Amino acid sequence: MSEVAKITLHPELEIAEIDPRVYGSFVEHLGRGVYGGIYEPGHPTADENGFRGDVLELVKKLRLSIVRYPGGNFVSGYNWEDGVGPVEKRPRKLELAFRAVETNQFGLNEFMAWCKKAGTLPMMAVNLGTRGLDAARNIVEYCNHPEGTYWSDLRRSHGIGEAYKIKLWCLGNEMDGPWQIGHKTAEEYGRLANETAKVMRQVDRDLELVACGSSNSGMPTYPDWEATVLDHTYEHVDYISLHSYYGHEKGQTGNFLAKSLDMENMIKTIIAVCDYTKAKKRSRKTINLSFDEWNVWFADRANKIPWSIAPAWGESMYTLVDAVVFGSLMIALLKHTDRIKIACQSEMVNVIAPIMTKNGGPCWRQTIFYPLFHASVYGRGRALNLNVKSPVYHDDEFDAVPFIDGVATVDDENESVTIFAVNRNLEEKMTLEGDVREFADYKVVEHIILTSDDIMAGNTVENPNNVIPQSNGDATMDAGKLTATLPRVSWNVIRMERKRS
Ligand code: AHR
Repeated sequence: MSEVAKITLHPELEIAEIDPRVYGSFVEHLGRGVYGGIYEPGHPTADENGFRGDVLELVKKLRLSIVRYPGGNFVSGYNWEDGVGPVEKRPRKLELAFRAVETNQFGLNEFMAWCKKAGTLPMMAVNLGTRGLDAARNIVEYCNHPEGTYWSDLRRSHGIGEAYKIKLWCLGNEMDGPWQIGHKTAEEYGRLANETAKVMRQVDRDLELVACGSSNSGMPTYPDWEATVLDHTYEHVDYISLHSYYGHEKGQTGNFLAKSLDMENMIKTIIAVCDYTKAKKRSRKTINLSFDEWNVWFADRANKIPWSIAPAWGESMYTLVDAVVFGSLMIALLKHTDRIKIACQSEMVNVIAPIMTKNGGPCWRQTIFYPLFHASVYGRGRALNLNVKSPVYHDDEFDAVPFIDGVATVDDENESVTIFAVNRNLEEKMTLEGDVREFADYKVVEHIILTSDDIMAGNTVENPNNVIPQSNGDATMDAGKLTATLPRVSWNVIRMERKRS
């Protein structure tokens, strides 16, 4: 007999309508994210723009609503003007954030053309490291002003007649990090972000702006950073950013599997800071959260390689356990969709990514591809809290960690409900029992499971389908009760649909 976790599926446990922009990703000029990733002229599948068709196909499967660009740390040393206009005239420059040679063959207009092909929307970032207000207002004028001014006419001379009307912009990146080019104190950044926000909005009043929060919850300035930055920017920004990456330390798998608890703590803390500032300012406006970098990853910032174009970076293989942790992070995000309106899994191709490629060769899906894919495809509509009551295990960092975690989504249009759940138990399968009386006229149509006998197994170019989801789960619904077995260390997707008479 396996241990039992209980859930309640009830329409009144609604968290919020899910903003489709929580299904976002991130493309940075880093490693082979752009060159050899989404862009590789000469590749057998490349189109007339040099965009890899095989990568585009996988990206489209993910149904990403937004993609953040061009960085990341990269943006803090980037002159966006280097990446527009005739390609043969674009300068080669040293890229200092990750130590590479940037050829600028791919820039803003190529990215916008790629977004169109991928069926996604851009989330742009401006450089507040080496630059400031002036470059920021100019890029908005270049992108969004119709015509008749220097920057808008420059865009038109580059063959882009219609203004892009890019709505969502990040005011810099991780400005609290000492590694950041042009790193600033919270006071310095808050002032600059506020003035930049004002001037960008003077060019286009419809923008939505994201101020930089902390790079992670371990930063010494966290969460004072957010309080100071919001004190400066409250009335001129819409979102504060959160970033978080979680690594698997040797011998610490139980702790690794619990890391979504840290993510949830961080989310709750930053909501508190936003609302404290709202009260302090007697404001009627609410600042929401943009979790615009999240993933599973061992951070290694040391980079002593020789100068070269698109050197491989962050190309490690993700394992099954990484995918389960990734799925639990996705669940944490969905549990807070009342305040998280934007989220970007970081990054999209080759760099700590769900999609991998070989230059000139094939592409394949890492294990973490699947939870993102399932959530994006089946997790639309409204998010519902499941009131999970699960047996727990002890962890020094988190005390009591529930073996089972989960969330549900209801898509009213398609009359479908999906439960996303992880089993963190390293030894045993668990039974999930649900009170689903409120959905008695629904039936289980599929129980997808991602698991493996070897929790450190993953997918490689030689063996791309080593760890893939199977529709072999045993979830059933009977007389208002759901029963399902969740294998040890697994990601589960239980799909239900209203019975047709
Ligand atoms: O995604 C890799 C890097 O991680 C990004 O450039 C930076 O924002 C973060 O520290």
